[in-house]
Amino acid sequence: MKRLFIIFLFVLLLGATIGVWSYSYFESLEEATIETSRITESSSIPSESGMFERSGFAMEYAIMPLDTDYQRNLKSYYDNRAFYGAPPTIPHHVEQSGIGSNACLKCHENGGFVDKFQAYTPVTPHPDKSNCVQCHVQVKSKSFFVPSGWAKNNAPSIGNQALEGSPPIVPHPLQLRENCLSCHAGPSAVKEIRTTHPDRINCRQCHVINQKKTVDIGTFKREIK
Ligand code: HEC
Ligand code: HEC
Ligand code: HEC
Ligand code: HEC
Repeated sequence: MKRLFIIFLFVLLLGATIGVWSYSYFESLEEATIETSRITESSSIPSESGMFERSGFAMEYAIMPLDTDYQRNLKSYYDNRAFYGAPPTIPHHVEQSGIGSNACLKCHENGGFVDKFQAYTPVTPHPDKSNCVQCHVQVKSKSFFVPSGWAKNNAPSIGNQALEGSPPIVPHPLQLRENCLSCHAGPSAVKEIRTTHPDRINCRQCHVINQKKTVDIGTFKREIK
């Protein structure tokens, strides 16, 4: 009986030793890990999250050679819009069946050169708004049906810097313009506003928005004649 008890005690001690040793051994192998499921909530400021949407392409944009033969400029950019902030018209032929995001996003999601249009494709800042032709239409005529006094509103000026060399302010509103790199980087970016530093990612860290106060113009009522 006594002998059995000693054997039992020995086995117990052996088991405990193996247990403790292997626990501390495997613990010593542990590496630092990031549990992403824990940090998805509030991982970015919601109003600024759009800014990082194309940041995966930032390094590519930074090292891309610039093709100056096919650069867009601000004049043609504004000419393609009925007024400042209006959706640009589609300056190229689209297939009748080619309605919707699938047809448009194959070129406009990531951009690139298109031989038949001899131009770089402007990247859309809003690939999620899938019914493109709801807002973007083709130009069917160059003049109005009836004469009108229609005049475009002016775009804000660029180059507003506090000091030479300091970051210019963002002169435009950010609604529909959260995704900075889609317009400010890459070969389709307009010459005057193409950034030299797409790789800095967090644009609003240095570029602040124009805090101009807006005035309340009351409720708009259409005059019926
Ligand atoms: C084969 C590629 C291709 C497809 C498909 C395509 N586009 Fe384009 N798109 C271009 C290119 C290239 C330009 C630039 C044309 C230029 O500058 O002359 C352009 C220009 C535009 C512009 C003007 C953007 C600006 O900033 O002025 C709009 C709007 C547009 N496309 C909308 C659409 C829509 C909507 C569809 C789907 C019905 C579509 N595109 C399908 C290649 C494409
Ligand atoms: C709800 C309306 C709406 C829908 C839907 C829409 N857009 Fe736009 N889009 C706009 C407006 C408004 C602008 C001008 C934004 C500005 O100048 O601030 C614009 C701008 C653009 C531009 C030019 C960006 C630049 O350089 O200024 C492209 C390219 C474009 N859209 C492509 C597309 C494509 C492709 C789709 C479909 C996947 C699409 N859009 C769906 C309203 C829309
Ligand atoms: C739809 C295209 C578009 C998007 C998206 C966009 N911008 Fe712009 N940005 C422009 C245009 C066009 C101008 C020239 C002034 C104007 O027409 O509003 C401009 C002007 C600027 C300027 C002034 C440049 C100078 O030389 O003075 C800054 C800075 C700027 N944007 C920063 C940003 C930042 C930061 C974001 C993202 C939060 C952003 N932009 C998103 C089109 C865009
Ligand atoms: C670390 C601060 C900083 C960050 C972050 C930053 N910028 Fe700038 N940006 C500057 C400064 C400084 C200038 C003025 C450069 C000059 O005048 O030589 C500038 C100039 C610009 C201009 C005018 C054209 C040019 O390149 O000179 C644009 C457009 C612009 N930035 C867009 C952006 C965008 C888009 C982002 C985000 C990808 C961004 N910036 C991030 C500091 C910054």
